[in-house]
Amino acid sequence: MSAKNIASSAYEWVDERLGLTELAAFARHKQVPVHKHSFWYYWGGLSLFFFIVQCLTGVLLLVYYRPGADAYESVRQITISMHFGWLIRSLHSWSANLMIFSVVVHMFSVFFMKAYRKPREFGWFSGLGLLALAMVFGFSGYLLPMDDLAFFATKVGLQIPATVPVVGPVIANMLRGGLEVNEFTVQRFFALHVVVLPALFLPLLGFHLWLVQKHGNAAPPSVEALPAAERKSIPFFPNFAMKDLGMWLIALNILALLAAVFPWALGKQYDPLAPAPLGIHPEWYFMSPFELLKLIGAVLPGEIGELAGMGLVNIAILLWLVIPFYDTRSASGRRARLTHYFGLAAIFAVLFTTILGYWSVR
Ligand code: HEM
Repeated sequence: MSAKNIASSAYEWVDERLGLTELAAFARHKQVPVHKHSFWYYWGGLSLFFFIVQCLTGVLLLVYYRPGADAYESVRQITISMHFGWLIRSLHSWSANLMIFSVVVHMFSVFFMKAYRKPREFGWFSGLGLLALAMVFGFSGYLLPMDDLAFFATKVGLQIPATVPVVGPVIANMLRGGLEVNEFTVQRFFALHVVVLPALFLPLLGFHLWLVQKHGNAAPPSVEALPAAERKSIPFFPNFAMKDLGMWLIALNILALLAAVFPWALGKQYDPLAPAPLGIHPEWYFMSPFELLKLIGAVLPGEIGELAGMGLVNIAILLWLVIPFYDTRSASGRRARLTHYFGLAAIFAVLFTTILGYWSVR
């Protein structure tokens, strides 16, 4: 029997049992529309790329990281003593930020292409779930080195869930493992970061990607309105996948440059008795709600202000979530326009409060 015959018999054997031909047909059927906004289709793939980097570098960090009272010392060893430990740590931290940045760009591009409309509503909901989980990944990971910045930023950050009425203080205490941020908190954040969050994130990501494969990429309404003969598209496999790989290569270069030229710093070991360093603030992706709560707190001091702030943030999130029910395919042109302006206002509000936040902690 020739090698070719052996290979085709082996393929048939596996195909009969696992249905490879159906899988290959499912992979091949996806088409990617080609138009002047096609560039924005890369951002979901870029988010995926940075997530893969997170998994690979995270596993390497796990080899030497020790949660609990020894956390700071283990990160110090990774950064100073282990061969290329500093680079792996730097890649993990930079890629975490680039991943959240890519997810945010991806979310707004999906929004402005109106890709949340039927039949892609679940893509929108699962995507928002992924963004929320990615932010909790970032928040829990930030504490793990237990340097002074991580310690104080987490203390400040945990004040946000603590403002939720009734259950807030209970949630904050549960996350902290007591009334103070200490080695028990690191232990909990570690479990969250490497077990609970991946266990939630991975199936949700699988669902999200399956939906994209099932429905294909949405074309923006202006392209959908064209006659069929004028709409162009290319197959995802292999044509667009090759372009995606090209973008991943560019992303890898940018990440490597950032991680090597600006290695991620490790501050002094945390000291709960020391005064908080000046200008303590949460990560950039939490700056907007943080600043909004501060602004409202300045106008309405005390519990009322905290409640009003949390209420406003939650209403904004809820409105963002239900957009696919408001701006549907059959919605009027007025609704479509209003939704577009709502998106522009959201970008402006997030940018404005973020810049103001950095300005006020200078
Ligand atoms: C880690 C987070 C995420 C990953 C890895 C991811 C990945 C992807 C990928 C690879 C695609 C196909 C390529 C593309 O259209 O860009 C996609 C499409 C999509 N994503 Fe995400 N995504 C994430 C978060 C989000 C978020 C936050 C939203 C919105 C709230 C979202 C909503 C969608 C929708 C509606 C589509 C279909 C777009 C279309 O049909 O053109 N995703 N995602």
